[in-house]
Amino acid sequence: MSTVIDGKTLASKLRFSIKQAVSELKIEHNIVPGLAVVLVGQDPASHVYVKSKARQTVEVGMHSFEHRLPENTSENELVDIIEELNQKPEVNGILVQLPLPDQINSERIINTINVNKDVDGFHIENIGRLSSGSSSLVPCTPAGCLILLRHTIENLSGHHAIILGRSNIVGKPVGQLLLKENCTVTIAHSKTRDLPSVCQRADIVIAAVGVPELVKDNWVKPGATVIDVGINRITDSLGNKKLVGDVDYESVSQVAGAITPVPGGVGPMTIACLLQNTIIATCRQRQIRIPPAIE
Ligand code: GUN
Repeated sequence: MSTVIDGKTLASKLRFSIKQAVSELKIEHNIVPGLAVVLVGQDPASHVYVKSKARQTVEVGMHSFEHRLPENTSENELVDIIEELNQKPEVNGILVQLPLPDQINSERIINTINVNKDVDGFHIENIGRLSSGSSSLVPCTPAGCLILLRHTIENLSGHHAIILGRSNIVGKPVGQLLLKENCTVTIAHSKTRDLPSVCQRADIVIAAVGVPELVKDNWVKPGATVIDVGINRITDSLGNKKLVGDVDYESVSQVAGAITPVPGGVGPMTIACLLQNTIIATCRQRQIRIPPAIE
């Protein structure tokens, strides 16, 4: 039976440090970081995420600005809103919830965000900075995965990590972060041949493909660390709706050395890292030291 990697508790500890950092910024510099979240359309999952992001932003003592826009918002209207947010000194971080409706070009929108306010780390300049190893705002889910891995494995150097999925949000940036940790990185995807046996060779498995319970016990090397990024809503054989990851938790937890549950693994870490990025962005904009509580 594997160790369960408790993302909920780790995220709560990180939020505690963030709260301390926010209070230090207020006392020492009279600054309250502000995060603007922009949501276009009616996607139910996105509404849940945005509500949670706004609530946690306020809970750690920061300002939250929510912009909920109708489904038929045009690309130019959205660009105008982002340009306004770019100008506002009280807004230190801007996040546009993805996916956006079809009439909007996401890439144009992301690259309209001021690179220093891009707390998602999706701006082309932040991607380039991460890939070339210079300091950047790091995408939140990959940053959360790295914290969970560092908590589980003392020294990541030399470990073979396989990442299932090559998205810009998770797969590619988590690969960059693990390269920086001196892991040997394989990024697998839908065209990878014989995925189970490629996966079997890895010490670390990061599953981020959006296929419910894809990774089975015979895909995983005994003792490997498994990080499940998937969040899939399914109806089980008894007709019950439930949330599952990209890993078949029941079977894989018999083989893995350590594994993240869904829910309660990567998910809570993502928002905590978003709050952390908002503080980092604030400090860089104001050219002040990042409070030691989150360094
Ligand atoms: N949609 C799913 N994950 C994310 C994320 O990390 N950031 C944004 N902006 N949208 C998302």
